[in-house]
Amino acid sequence: MDNKDLFEQALVVANRAYAPYSNFRVGAALLCEDGSVVTGANIENRSFGLTICAERSAIVAALAQGKTKFKALVIACPDAAYPVSPCGACRQVISEFVTPDFPIAFGGGDGKLVQSTMAELFPHDALHELSQK
Ligand code: THU
Repeated sequence: MDNKDLFEQALVVANRAYAPYSNFRVGAALLCEDGSVVTGANIENRSFGLTICAERSAIVAALAQGKTKFKALVIACPDAAYPVSPCGACRQVISEFVTPDFPIAFGGGDGKLVQSTMAELFPHDALHELSQK
């Protein structure tokens, strides 16, 4: 299971996004330690602040399935002309469950992937000393 496979799965789930307000579909594919892949899409709400991003959608789905250890995350934004990285809220939430070297890749409509890590996207991680992991 490489990034290309994960990106394909992220593109598939992006089609299940509920994004009538932004018309901006996002899909996320999370590779779990057991080799399974859990996907998520953005689910918007007419009370805009309640929108759930694809990344958090995938993370909470995986945790609810009892999957707590992750190997990689790939994000697809087919409606973007360039690769879109996770928003600040998602960076905070992802960081709760992964280590700083955790690989995160993201790609837009052209399919080109940018490879990054949790530490690059979320440097100077605050309050990690409170973490129970
Ligand atoms: N969105 C995501 O799902 N993930 C990101 O990384 C960027 C933004 C969603 C939120 C909203 O539904 C739409 O994209 C536009 O911001």
